[in-house]
Amino acid sequence: METPKKAALLKRYRLKPHLPRHVAIIMDGNGRWAKKRHLPRIAGHRAGAFSIREIVRLSGELGLEALTLYAFSTENWKRPPREVALLMQLLKQYLRSEVPELLGNNVRLGTIGNTADLPPKIGKELKESIQATSHYTGLKLILPLSYSGRADLARAVKGIAAKVKAGKLKPSAVTEKTITQSLSTASLPEVDLLIRTSGEMRVSNFLLWELAYSEFHITPTLWPDFRTPHFIAALRDFQTRQRRFGGVESVTGSVTSWAR
Ligand code: FPP
Repeated sequence: METPKKAALLKRYRLKPHLPRHVAIIMDGNGRWAKKRHLPRIAGHRAGAFSIREIVRLSGELGLEALTLYAFSTENWKRPPREVALLMQLLKQYLRSEVPELLGNNVRLGTIGNTADLPPKIGKELKESIQATSHYTGLKLILPLSYSGRADLARAVKGIAAKVKAGKLKPSAVTEKTITQSLSTASLPEVDLLIRTSGEMRVSNFLLWELAYSEFHITPTLWPDFRTPHFIAALRDFQTRQRRFGGVESVTGSVTSWAR
């Protein structure tokens, strides 16, 4: 739905009406941002939290349906314990400070990943934040935490195998849809646009199944510097893409043509 606010933003940023329904972002480059300023790495993560605030607000105002921000991967547990502890602390602070902002912007918070791995206090804070926003109907903000695309696929396959074993599902009835619906992202629209900051050309075990037909926008901008103009540039880039989904006919990205 195009609200007057959305219409004004589209005009201001010279965007066409067809926006991605779901944007996923690999927020990379916090450490390099801090290093360039001779600051500890955590200062980069702290600055990155301000980028999150700005991009979440704008995504809501533009009427995106879902925004998935890769906050902490399974592999991130391998970082020095002090950095992990500080990241967990930052997550707690983020939830405490941002929930009122999310509520004010009709944002519903969700998470994917093995959140049982999180320290109990953080897990509790997360649960409460999700609960507090559960009735909101605007942007779905998804924070993957202790997330790994391969682990999510393995979990989905285990669930499918159990149903087959129990006689609830025939092996011949297993389709791509069965897998899509067994992933932790089942309730979200297809990922239309993946953004990765800091110029790295990797998927880093993120949404492996879900990115099959996503458009990629890779920018050299480091995550703490990634603000409104960079996000708008990514959306404009997306609007130039011809989406064919493996076929030959050009599909210019209108919302209806994405509904596969
Ligand atoms: C990657 O930068 C970033 C992360 C591993 C964490 C992302 C966290 C935030 C943006 C801020 C915290 C917010 C929440 C909600 C927890 P990097 O450290 O890999 O950067 P580098 O590649 O330059 O070293």
